[in-house]
Amino acid sequence: MFRTLAIGIFSLLFPVLLSCEKLPDVVVPETPQQEQKENVEGNKEEGKKDEGKKDKENKGDETPKYLEPTSKTLVVYYSFTGNCKSIVTSLTANIEADVLEILPAQEGLDYAANNYAIGSGLISAIREKPNEAASYPAIKPVNRNAADYETIIIVTPLWWSNMAAIMQSYLFQEGSKMKGKTIGLIVSSHSSGISSVVADAKRLVSGGVFHENNLWINASNRDKKADLVKEWIAGFSINTYSMPEKIKITVSGKSLPVKIELNEATKALVAALKEASITYEANDYGGFEKVGALGRSLPTSDSQMTTQPGDVILYSGNQIVLFYGSNSWSYTRIGKIEYGTLDELKSFLKAGQGKISVSLSL
Ligand SMILES: Cc1cc2nc3c(=O)[nH]c(=O)nc-3n(C[C@H](O)[C@H](O)[C@H](O)COP(=O)(O)O)c2cc1C
Repeated sequence: MFRTLAIGIFSLLFPVLLSCEKLPDVVVPETPQQEQKENVEGNKEEGKKDEGKKDKENKGDETPKYLEPTSKTLVVYYSFTGNCKSIVTSLTANIEADVLEILPAQEGLDYAANNYAIGSGLISAIREKPNEAASYPAIKPVNRNAADYETIIIVTPLWWSNMAAIMQSYLFQEGSKMKGKTIGLIVSSHSSGISSVVADAKRLVSGGVFHENNLWINASNRDKKADLVKEWIAGFSINTYSMPEKIKITVSGKSLPVKIELNEATKALVAALKEASITYEANDYGGFEKVGALGRSLPTSDSQMTTQPGDVILYSGNQIVLFYGSNSWSYTRIGKIEYGTLDELKSFLKAGQGKISVSLSL
């Protein structure tokens, strides 16, 4: 009853509100309920067609192909007119995360046309039968597995007070994989409050551990979006780094694993190696090491130590030292080359033979 009333009021006010934002004028239908119903029927038919199409696409390829996660945080978003997309840009300027965009299977639909008829039809269908898969519009296959992440940040538009139907489809499909995970919710609306979107998220991700504060971006605070996102993230402790145990060191075409430490220097190094491998030149020094400038600075946490053969050390913030002997100095530890015998290590590093080219990679 309340929802019907709310839709009625909103259908009258929303076009007026939007025209203030200089969006194209919309016409209020004379019988909005009837128009919605017709669209629901239409969408159900479209949905059936889509299901058939999806079945065909998936035939013989039933195991989804997911990308390897590069972070412990997944940002998943849907955006019809670009507001949520730009929120995601602000988010990824502050955190390291994999990003997944949800797209409807049926391209080119204008959810806002004809007084938002398609969008409201889709929402009505979900409201009527929220537990039936057929109520949700088909989406394109996703290439990230929610189960791979510790934290999932959902960025979604609000449609007719609810979560946009396309995002609801994704969560209906994948929400059960988010059990026990930390869930953050960012909602973008024109002006409507987001309590029903929060309720949708909790219904669809029933096992999620929701961060207590949701972020609501709307027409009146959109210009401060970057600061609001930054503030929200600061109050939300996210472990974004997915650190590998080892990286690879290559000299003259031969590679060995390096078991790495967990510190700010290795986090920065791994982040750089995710972009591209690093190659630098190193030379013998002191009869116990090969040292060379990495071509970038890494954060230091120097402490006095006595190094051992195989140690990979950061010296002076921007030089990497590969030890085939020992030295006592204040360094930051990067890791240790996993080698066989000392002679094999010396041969690998061409100890005492001058300049070598060293590549570091993941
Ligand atoms: C189908 C549809 C229904 C909408 N319903 C509402 C609404 O009930 N209240 C509101 O404040 N904004 C509503 N909006 C506006 C969007 O929530 C808002 O513009 C949002 O920022 C869009 O995000 P996007 O640009 O990422 O798609 C609606 C938009 C669409 C397309």
